[in-house]
Amino acid sequence: MKELTQSSTLKELYSTPIGHDTIGRVLLQLNLSEKWITGSLIGNLKLKTLMKLTKKSLGEGFWNALLHLINQEKDLPLDRTPEAMPKEPKKTWWKEAVIYQIYPRSFADSNGDGIGDLKGITEKLDYLKDLGVNAIWLSPVYDSPNDDNGYDIRDYRKIMTEFGTMEDFDELLKKTHEKGMRLIMDLVVNHTSDEHEWFRKALSDPDSKYRDYYFFREDTGKEPNNWVSFFGGTAWNRYPEQNAWALHLFSKKQMDLNWDNPNVREDVIDMINWWLDKGVDGFRMDVINYISKEAGLPDGDEAIGSMMMFYGIEHYYYGPHLHEYLKEIQDKAFRPHGAFSVGETPGVGREMAKLITGEERGELDMIFSFDQLDMPGRVRFDYYEYDLNYYRDYIIDWMEHYGNNCWMSLFYNNHDNPRMVSKVTKDPAFNVPVEKLLAVMQFTLKGTPFVYQGDEMGLTNYDFHSIEELSDVESKNRYQELLEMHAPEEAFRIIRTGTRDHTRVLLPWNETAKNLPDHLTQSPDESITDFYRDLIRLRREHPALIYGTFKVLSRKKNRFVYERSDGSENFVIECNLSKDARPASFRPDGYEPVLDPKGAGPVLAPYEARIYRKKTEA
Ligand code: NOJ
Repeated sequence: MKELTQSSTLKELYSTPIGHDTIGRVLLQLNLSEKWITGSLIGNLKLKTLMKLTKKSLGEGFWNALLHLINQEKDLPLDRTPEAMPKEPKKTWWKEAVIYQIYPRSFADSNGDGIGDLKGITEKLDYLKDLGVNAIWLSPVYDSPNDDNGYDIRDYRKIMTEFGTMEDFDELLKKTHEKGMRLIMDLVVNHTSDEHEWFRKALSDPDSKYRDYYFFREDTGKEPNNWVSFFGGTAWNRYPEQNAWALHLFSKKQMDLNWDNPNVREDVIDMINWWLDKGVDGFRMDVINYISKEAGLPDGDEAIGSMMMFYGIEHYYYGPHLHEYLKEIQDKAFRPHGAFSVGETPGVGREMAKLITGEERGELDMIFSFDQLDMPGRVRFDYYEYDLNYYRDYIIDWMEHYGNNCWMSLFYNNHDNPRMVSKVTKDPAFNVPVEKLLAVMQFTLKGTPFVYQGDEMGLTNYDFHSIEELSDVESKNRYQELLEMHAPEEAFRIIRTGTRDHTRVLLPWNETAKNLPDHLTQSPDESITDFYRDLIRLRREHPALIYGTFKVLSRKKNRFVYERSDGSENFVIECNLSKDARPASFRPDGYEPVLDPKGAGPVLAPYEARIYRKKTEA
């Protein structure tokens, strides 16, 4: 790809994958359409002119960082050569699967100690099988001091004591396989716990080979750079007795591994193979796009830092060796085992995703992109009503451009976010219709649905009453930071909106959960569970809903009508995205409603979603 310079135009920048996603994000924040660049004089402005014009708003550092990232990426996505694009998606088990995420700590408690465990999960396998789940993704179950609930791993080859033993794990794996399901583990290798033996050795002996497993820097009186931690404050821990600092992008006990050290890669790949040899079927890879950091760990740009709230992010969210390291894991571990991979990749947009998940590239099978979880200009700590028109537009954009060599993950919830239903509606009367609408889209759009535990029970956000009820390290740190600017009530109000604890309360089928205060108790809504089961079955029985083409029939305000078709079957899905009833727009002549036989009337109820199937000749 030709090197871009300050004489390149905005259009040229935008035509590159990184330029597209980054400028696209800025446009979104400013609520401007793409046409602003592609169809106007502004697109022809040279970068150096733009730098002057946006000096106050974006700053030169933004454009320089962008230029650097663009020039670093030598590859182009496959769809730039359309003749090479497969006409149809390749078939694999994970495209057909419905994957269910378990957060072990709060899923099922088999021994009444108030903490979920592995035996509890094994006891629920029949429930999951009956729901129609094909694969389980387990959030971390490894030995950990639990500073970040297991995302701080002390020993990758040991099970967390509260969750049980390795025998319990082996039993879970065996039973999962016996029931015809697959098991996917969480791979947390951007960082380890500071209690991991590698870090302990690195700290106790500066000459040990483990010193270079992490980012240690000599203490010259201040932090080695201005990077900040996602959980608040500087990203550096100071070790005075060592005269040194070490880097942690997450909590103070989650120390970043130095992936440029080949020994780190070798040890991590060994560990991955150890689990794959045991028979696990793949991995969800925690913040995997952060593993390659810019050499020398330069300061983050001020303007980018204030815009994104995280100083330094441009130096690691799409680092110089990311593709190389992902390919190495794929070649040395995943491919030889036929293992599945899904990467958690915050900040990666559609075009960059193509460069990570294009099947010809051999990096990852899928990624989680998070741009759909909050509206432009909003973060999860903002109290607002999420507009599903935004979700519709996001989905259409990906469905129409992602290409048959890539495959989407479809999800609304996970252990890091409040429940989507509670963002969409603040009126409990609409919870059930919104939950059903979200489910219909999740199981009839093109991609692999990831159900988060409790989605299928109709769970919503919890009515936390005080900061003491929260246990998440992020919420606690942020609360302390907020107290510097806000009264305690206001600080708590903000935290309550976005806390990760909403999705971490023990599921309501636990006996111990009944001991929770009333305001932290919810009951599973079996009608939602039945609805999930029916939808999952429908998807399984009709390949048109998996591999079929996707076509938009209407995207007028508050409406989303689309067709899925594979030549032999044809489905139309009509969704009312608003809280007002509205006339149906699709005329179902020759079609029959599926799942809800009364769904053929002329008016759609608030948030109603209907599925129609073309009648086949008798
Ligand atoms: C992303 C995980 O999903 C989150 O729970 C965790 O806190 C961070 N990565 C750090 O591992």
